[in-house]
Amino acid sequence: MCEILVTGASGNVGRHVHASLSAAGVPVCGVSRKDADLLDPASLEPLLDRVETVFLVWPEPSAERAAPVIELIAEYARRVVYLSAHAPTPTFHTDVERLIEHSGLGWTFLRATGFAVNTLALADQVRSGVVRGPYGMARRSLIHEKDVAAVATHVLASAGHGGVRYVLSGPEALTQIEQVRILGETVGREVRWEEACAGGAEAVNACGAFVESPETVTNTVRVLTGREPRSFREWARDHADAFR
Ligand SMILES: NC(=O)c1ccc[n+]([C@@H]2O[C@H](COP(=O)([O-])OP(=O)(O)OC[C@H]3O[C@@H](n4cnc5c(N)ncnc54)[C@H](OP(=O)(O)O)[C@@H]3O)[C@@H](O)[C@H]2O)c1
Repeated sequence: MCEILVTGASGNVGRHVHASLSAAGVPVCGVSRKDADLLDPASLEPLLDRVETVFLVWPEPSAERAAPVIELIAEYARRVVYLSAHAPTPTFHTDVERLIEHSGLGWTFLRATGFAVNTLALADQVRSGVVRGPYGMARRSLIHEKDVAAVATHVLASAGHGGVRYVLSGPEALTQIEQVRILGETVGREVRWEEACAGGAEAVNACGAFVESPETVTNTVRVLTGREPRSFREWARDHADAFR
């Protein structure tokens, strides 16, 4: 029997949430694509029997197909803890949150800042010694996926978080130039940032905004988990092999 259903259970965050809840003896089940397709609610329905809480990781960058699965979850479960994002402008997460708010479910939104794990995309460039991109002075408070998971685990396993929008961040806002330097130092290589234009207008605009006003830093991880959020340097050490 599953009291808690963790979606995205093979992903960056969900895998740690699932493992931590299991280790704590909580009856938990994980869902990844091999188990059910969130875009096809009928495939999820058999897994919802007697589930009380769902940790929801929405897998598409659009809320267009989110309504049916949220309605289905509301037929079975009491509450949803939704992995959302803290962003300077509304995103699809804003739309998914709205659907959840109107579903009748109890809810908690975990609005995370940028994931440190996004920098894995720079691995080839770090190896080459030069990382090119726009807005090197954009400051982001990148968060370790284990800290997102630790907060999620705490919220899933305890009461009293209904109707709360938690903003979760790493411990400090670092420029992209500093992030790249830290990645280089971690693997013993000098890596420099080179300013360059890039595609992906939405992400680039968001990055531009972080030059003027750095991404927010919050104390949510410490307040909820009792430990300081992991630094970007610690994240880099945990993932050093990917940059070697
Ligand atoms: N990156 C950021 O900076 C950031 C910041 C804030 C919030 N977020 C949000 O965090 C979420 C991603 O979390 P993550 O990084 O932990 O996930 P992830 O590593 O990208 O993994 C995605 C998970 O979702 C599962 N999945 C994908 N499509 C599915 C489908 N159609 N049906 C069922 N399961 C499906 C995958 O299963 P398989 O392994 O089977 O494919 C996997 O377990 C997104 O909603 C993102 O917007 C990201």
